[in-house]
Amino acid sequence: MNDKEQIKSVESDRAADEVFSRRGMLRWMAGVFLSLWAFGAFWVAAGFLMAPGAEEHAMGQMISVGEVASLSPGDARLIHHRSQPILVIRDLSGEVAALSAICTHMRCVLHWDSQAQVIRCPCHGGTFDVDGNVLSGPPPRPLARFVLEVRLGEIFVHV
Ligand code: FES
Repeated sequence: MNDKEQIKSVESDRAADEVFSRRGMLRWMAGVFLSLWAFGAFWVAAGFLMAPGAEEHAMGQMISVGEVASLSPGDARLIHHRSQPILVIRDLSGEVAALSAICTHMRCVLHWDSQAQVIRCPCHGGTFDVDGNVLSGPPPRPLARFVLEVRLGEIFVHV
């Protein structure tokens, strides 16, 4: 092999290497793209299969707050759902209600006064009745009320 043939052979090898490296890069990019696409498709399918039931989705989340029998008439229980305090009150007639335990004046956490059968705010003396209506003090609005159900003696609050 003379010098000219040798140079041509080297140039041809370089061109072939370049083509292979471009092909390799394109294959690698296609592989990455397909992997990402497959991962995204899997994620969407998993999200669809693990979606909440239609009833739960339409009604929001329900949390159990215990048995009705565990609350005496005229008593209440303060529960927390995430950062939301909720007062579950069983009035003297036995009816159960769930009210936001955040005062509508300046957002202090309320408590149940079982002696007076009212909800009291420790900050500025506001009071509310068992239905969340303002009885006295500076609160401008009644308390928010949660939908509640009793199923087989257990209280569920829609949050
Ligand atoms: S924060 Fe409740 S009365 Fe002011």
